Amino acid sequence: MKTVHTIKELREHLDQAPARPVFVPTMGNLHEGHLALVRRARELGAPKGAPVVASIFVNRLQFGPNEDFDTYPRTLERDAQLLAQAGCDVLFAPSEAELYPQPQGYKVVPPTELADILEGAFRPGFFTGVCTVVHKLFNIVQPGTAIFGKKDYQQLMVLRNMVQQMGLPIEVLGGETLRADDGLALSSRNGYLSPAERSEAVQLSAALRRVQEAVVAQRAAGGLSPDSLALLEQQAMATLASRGWKPDYVLVRRQRDLLVPTAQDLAAQAPLVVLTAARLGSTRLIDNLEL
Ligand code: PAF
Repeated sequence: MKTVHTIKELREHLDQAPARPVFVPTMGNLHEGHLALVRRARELGAPKGAPVVASIFVNRLQFGPNEDFDTYPRTLERDAQLLAQAGCDVLFAPSEAELYPQPQGYKVVPPTELADILEGAFRPGFFTGVCTVVHKLFNIVQPGTAIFGKKDYQQLMVLRNMVQQMGLPIEVLGGETLRADDGLALSSRNGYLSPAERSEAVQLSAALRRVQEAVVAQRAAGGLSPDSLALLEQQAMATLASRGWKPDYVLVRRQRDLLVPTAQDLAAQAPLVVLTAARLGSTRLIDNLEL
């Protein structure tokens, strides 16, 4: 695997490639979830000889003023070893001066109805930061395919929408969330948890499972309604709060656009997803489950 830090080196390297890369953008501190995306990229790229490119860049633009930009774990050497083992061909790890030589005045602002709900409601400007850096990385890497984890469900949807509306010739794929044995979704931020918090953290996915089970049961009994969903959301929030969590949201939404399901959607069995974000101590975790 080749590690490059500048756009020029990256372009020189990729200009020889027989096909456009399969790209896995990350912020580093990699875990099995990222590596599964890289292995998938390897499989997808192999028939055409498309190189697998991963990027590691902790993107200041997507962090709020009181968020963890400064403390976000930077583990480049270890990450590079893991990427090489997983079949990555090129690691692009630019410095901040390389990616943002001037303050980034041009931004990609996603539509409010998709980006100012759920995560966007609690992290103002987050998706503008994500879209801006991913659009820029797409221009630099020029991938044919890009893969993002489904744990960041809304991010995947926003980025798919950006690619479609901007006419970018890139196929966007979602990779399944990987979980620890107890159900906790793998995340770089799990490393912030104390041992006691780590044992408690299982409760987040457990809360989603309970919502899922209740929705399945109510569907079978014909009792699923917007009101019954709202009650399930409130119960999940209350359970987490009673255990010492500070939940931002537990919400059941339509998979297709993340809007609130109507009675007609429920009658038509429209695919749903339950999404959550909650703080345990000083660590904010997110998770979701398709229903
Ligand atoms: O999901 C992430 O790690 C980041 O939001 C991304 C897509 C690499 C953009 O910085």
